[in-house]
Amino acid sequence: MLAPVALHPSAAEADVLEAERFLRLYHHETGQPGLKVRLVEAEAELEQHGRLTLSSAELAHGAGVAWRNSTRCVGRGYWRALELRDLRHVTAPEQVFAQLLGHLERAWNGGRLRAVISVFGPGVRILSPQLIRYAGYRQPGGSVLGDPQNLDLTRRLEALGWQAPAHKAAFDVLPIAVQSGDQVRLYTLPSEGVREVQISHPALPAVADLGLKWHALPVISDMRLEVAGQQFLCAPFSGWYMQTEIAARNLADAGRYDALPRLAQALGLDTRRERSLWRDRALLELNVAVLHSFDAAGVRIDNHHSATRRFVRFEGREARAGRAVHGRWSWLIPPVSPALTPLWHRSYTDTELTPNFFAQTMSWPVQPHPHPVQPIREQGCPVHR
Ligand code: ARG
Repeated sequence: MLAPVALHPSAAEADVLEAERFLRLYHHETGQPGLKVRLVEAEAELEQHGRLTLSSAELAHGAGVAWRNSTRCVGRGYWRALELRDLRHVTAPEQVFAQLLGHLERAWNGGRLRAVISVFGPGVRILSPQLIRYAGYRQPGGSVLGDPQNLDLTRRLEALGWQAPAHKAAFDVLPIAVQSGDQVRLYTLPSEGVREVQISHPALPAVADLGLKWHALPVISDMRLEVAGQQFLCAPFSGWYMQTEIAARNLADAGRYDALPRLAQALGLDTRRERSLWRDRALLELNVAVLHSFDAAGVRIDNHHSATRRFVRFEGREARAGRAVHGRWSWLIPPVSPALTPLWHRSYTDTELTPNFFAQTMSWPVQPHPHPVQPIREQGCPVHR
């Protein structure tokens, strides 16, 4: 058997306990036989080499459970469908980038987006928060062109040698920053890899004239995946959007693309009086427009009514499987009409179980935090030690 439970386990003991706990969970949940043999084998490998090599099937299940445990995600009812691209043998930045293109293709699936995670080997990380991000530029006079959320990101990439296009625009796709050792390399996505949807409205032609668009795939690329006590620092994953993310936040927030005043103008709403509820009306039409545009382009997208009802069904399935569903209510409810969804009257505890995805601090070699790039340290990670 593996090490007995200690009250204050050392780091190595904690690794062993996590490994054992995960292997039990894997065999229990998948019905896969052979737990006893696997535990003995794992113990031997941990003892001799200080690491445990997960099989692809184990890692795939662990990544799915990490999604299932993601307290901020309303879409995790699909966790079983997460497809693993097991790329633990890939660590060279060039190859990582080539595989990121493969990820985009596999996830795109002709518009019928698939939930995919690519897990890379040790020593490499993606500093960019998502594979596809739009530049934000500070203009003379202080206004911002593009996505204000990415002002710092854009500056850092420029400091690393990225050259913005001669004609800067509101939707310039940024390069991907890949860190390997103490080096950061930038890779430019080919335009075929970046599928985008132009936003138009089914009944109001003025909406298309605003020139709004968004990318089809949200690929989170800077989170650490923890499975069986092992840390996978380079494990980009993607699903598909819910329209509120784009229409009620990315394009609508005053601190993002701030499109509501322009939209209200285009719709001829009375923007002089708050009581006309022009903001709310513009917001609603933008949500209609985003759903319409993605549908017309044949790109998978969810809406908040269906997604929240599906989440409640997921809770039911989890309860029947004897598992608790934790969540962060403020993230699970949609930013549009939350009280119309079944989540409004429910409450959640925000316990973070593992496997899970966690934020990790990235150190950029450039402003606005001037310090040399820190070597990648995969703490508590038997596989990478
Ligand atoms: N909200 C983020 C964005 O707008 C994406 C987060 C992940 N979303 C998802 N549907 N998988 O880019």
